[in-house]
Amino acid sequence: MTDVGRHPKIKLHTMSEVIAVEGYVGNFNVSILKRARYVDEKDCTACGDCAKACPVVRPDEFNVGLSTRKAIFTPFPQSVPSAYVVNINECLGHNPSVCAKCMDACEKGCINFHMSDEEIKERVGSIVVATGLEPYDPTELDEYGYTRFENVLTSLEFERLINAGGPTKGELIRSTDRRRPKSIGFIQCVGSRSVRKGGNYCSNVCCMNTIKSTLVLKEHYPDVNIKVFYIDIRAFGKGFEDLYMRSRRSGVNYLRGLPGTVEELPDRSLRVAVENTASGVLEFHDLDMLVLAIGIKPAKSAQKIREMLGLQLTPDGFFLEAHPKLQPVDAATRGVFYAGCAEGPKDIKESVTQASAAAARSIRLMHKGEIITEPITSVVIPGQCKSCGICAEVCPYNAITVDVKKKMPALINSAACAGCGTCAAECTFDAIIMNHFTDDQIICQIDTLLEDKAQEKVLVFACNWCSYAGADYAGVSRLQYPASVNIIRTMCSGRVDKKFIWHAFLKGAPVVLVSGCHIGDCHYIDANHWTQKRVQKLQKRMEKLGIKPDRLQLEWISAAEGVRFAGVMNKMEKIRQEVSSQEIADTIKLLNRRKKQALSSD
Ligand code: FES
Repeated sequence: MTDVGRHPKIKLHTMSEVIAVEGYVGNFNVSILKRARYVDEKDCTACGDCAKACPVVRPDEFNVGLSTRKAIFTPFPQSVPSAYVVNINECLGHNPSVCAKCMDACEKGCINFHMSDEEIKERVGSIVVATGLEPYDPTELDEYGYTRFENVLTSLEFERLINAGGPTKGELIRSTDRRRPKSIGFIQCVGSRSVRKGGNYCSNVCCMNTIKSTLVLKEHYPDVNIKVFYIDIRAFGKGFEDLYMRSRRSGVNYLRGLPGTVEELPDRSLRVAVENTASGVLEFHDLDMLVLAIGIKPAKSAQKIREMLGLQLTPDGFFLEAHPKLQPVDAATRGVFYAGCAEGPKDIKESVTQASAAAARSIRLMHKGEIITEPITSVVIPGQCKSCGICAEVCPYNAITVDVKKKMPALINSAACAGCGTCAAECTFDAIIMNHFTDDQIICQIDTLLEDKAQEKVLVFACNWCSYAGADYAGVSRLQYPASVNIIRTMCSGRVDKKFIWHAFLKGAPVVLVSGCHIGDCHYIDANHWTQKRVQKLQKRMEKLGIKPDRLQLEWISAAEGVRFAGVMNKMEKIRQEVSSQEIADTIKLLNRRKKQALSSD
């Protein structure tokens, strides 16, 4: 951190919050709100005289409330810059007549209560999102008694307690009687791997953190009796299994099963009731202290950052990478990368690896000075654009700007456009062309596929990244699916214009299937939400027109779901067989009659 603070090419904005981001790869304009420190960070030598004089005592956040700090403080010992900061909400008042004891104590005169928050603008080429994590709050797990019993601690509190720089200088004591605990229990997976409370994912770090803590304890206090209650130990990293074995060999008792209840005994020790799933016996363990190995939650700021940068979150609330294997540190928005727990729970080693990768990806992108845009982007036909603004509304990348008031035609930033084609599909005036997937090209494909024996065919629109890859997977896995299936590839299901669907029915298609990535997995952030809305709307319209809505299907199939792809195609074939020739003929007649309105306004 000190190196970062000193690096001539790194500008560090501490106490700052990103409030807005505009622009695109290579040209991001970032607005930052820098909070006032009330201490001149250049002159402050962090001597601490101000803190000694300050009369305000508050819980120290760094020591998770186990010790106190003053209203003027350093957030933690190695913080950068090495300067004090005033929490103005806690300060007794910056009017000297009220307090100002810190000002009197500071010989260098660094304290300045006239400082105010300022807004800073930065222009950057790429952005690394490293928003960190939020520790799980075990308050809701009442059975462990975290809020009721003082000797139940979280792993974070325990970490600070046994840390040499912690509130007791590393001395292990119970806060209730200030004596050293003779027996300590650890409960694993608190807030992790649970569908009931917390997250249903593994937090990755808790097992090894507990193993590390047991080794530290055994090294300093060999006679302490340690019990670990667990579901299963996940020691998957390099050297981790070795540490686990060392912990077991040192005498730590690993008990398979999570406690059901915790009770406090008169001497403030704790009685844990647990079903040992290895022996099937209900056991009771009396312990002096209990440590809850809490899980990792996404940072609170994730949602705000997501909106600002047009990113996507997983159902767990962590940021979603562009591709889990091929682009694990890239965001779907070009020029944005992830590092650390922003993308998912991970330990220090993994975070450092990902941060290095993100830095390298960013440098690789920036050092050229210019980027090559993808050929598959959208283009506006200015004469046809009515400046309605729908395209800008649906674009997942904020790549389109429309001045609705001035009635200026939409402008597409091709550096920001990723080529999903949702804008072209939603434009009611056909004012957007999607290069390489133009309306004419797709209509021609429909015409060709349905030219002969249309009633015997199932027309499938498959998105390039998931469904089409799923079809590929079904093929290489030698899975059988009906020969009636005819696939048209689009980059995203969002590209499937309603006019393609009407055209397919007009040409005699008995069934049309629109398929894409699962919701939340679309490679163009959330473009498939628009697909879903469009298809649902069309199905309602079909019902009104007297066309069986079943003839239009929507299915999400991932690249790894070859079996599902084959299954869905079999289902489509069954639906096709239920559509009579008369129904198809009636639909063609109806759509021909309504041709003009149906294709443009339905
Ligand atoms: Fe597959 Fe969008 S990329 S649905």
